[in-house]
Amino acid sequence: METPGRHRPVLLQETLGFLRNGPGLYLDATLGEAGHARALLEAEPEARLLGCDRDPAAVAHARGLLATLGARVIVEQASFRQLPEIHRRHGGEPFAGALFDLGLSSRQLDDPERGMSFMAEGPLDLRMDPGSGTPAAEALKRVEERELAEVLRRHGEVPRAAHLARAISGAARAGRLETTSALVATVERCLGGRAHPRRLAQVFQALRRWVNEEAEELEAALSWLPAAMRPGGVVVTIAFHSLEDRTIKQALRGIQAAPRRLPPLPTSRPAEGPWETLTRHVVTPTSVERASNPRSRSARLRAFRRRTS
Ligand SMILES: C[S@@+](CC[C@H](N)C(=O)[O-])C[C@H]1O[C@@H](n2cnc3c(N)ncnc32)[C@H](O)[C@@H]1O
Repeated sequence: METPGRHRPVLLQETLGFLRNGPGLYLDATLGEAGHARALLEAEPEARLLGCDRDPAAVAHARGLLATLGARVIVEQASFRQLPEIHRRHGGEPFAGALFDLGLSSRQLDDPERGMSFMAEGPLDLRMDPGSGTPAAEALKRVEERELAEVLRRHGEVPRAAHLARAISGAARAGRLETTSALVATVERCLGGRAHPRRLAQVFQALRRWVNEEAEELEAALSWLPAAMRPGGVVVTIAFHSLEDRTIKQALRGIQAAPRRLPPLPTSRPAEGPWETLTRHVVTPTSVERASNPRSRSARLRAFRRRTS
């Protein structure tokens, strides 16, 4: 049985297998409940950690959990876009390893006040940091229908996005979309019956990614990483849906959107990017982990090493 609110670190042994890289400074950019961070610091006695999370409740909780490690750990509230500034402020030592375990912690998912889940009644908020940005209910009152349809398509791959966008923005403007259950009811009315949980999950995911600007956050972090890692430093990412995984794969494998109209230069080999891929194929949880922690089901781990030259 899962304990509500308690987060179990996903792909823990696999993460440590790649991330452990000897003494030095490590970054955990998604500290959450510090499960991965604590295990890393136990396994690597000479490792130090800069642990960050945008969620102030996660930061307070993790500070308590890591307090016994004293000066080996610095915990800061920061979103990915603030990492360069935080890193600089703490001396800018290049990282030996960095972890991005994306998505939500169980604590966030299970807290009805966050409005993250279609399974619990709560305000339609969806922010990871309740102190910044705009709650989903407010943002939906202002968004253009066409933009909302694009959000549903781009961030949730939601079918019939235009149709749903009209219904959702109509309900929001009429002041009928303040809670998670009101959103569920609007989606179901629009689709003409009980919506499949998968469809509801896609809608909630799309709105959450939009409200938290998750795509922009991730892209900012990935473009900063080459400058922040030491040569030989390892980055481990854990994504929970294909959109995120694709962004990571493309950024860290150096896959560029092809300039289609230009023919390839005859003698050039593709330029080597700063990363060497350590995971030829994506790593997924074993059937044992999936059975004991259903939330691990869609996890996809990738690891990359900063080239030494
Ligand atoms: C899956 S949990 C991490 C769990 C953690 N590895 C553990 O073992 O407890 C993801 C965490 O990342 C944080 N997060 C997600 N996107 C973020 C961003 N752009 N900037 C900072 N933190 C982010 C969330 O607030 C959440 O606490």
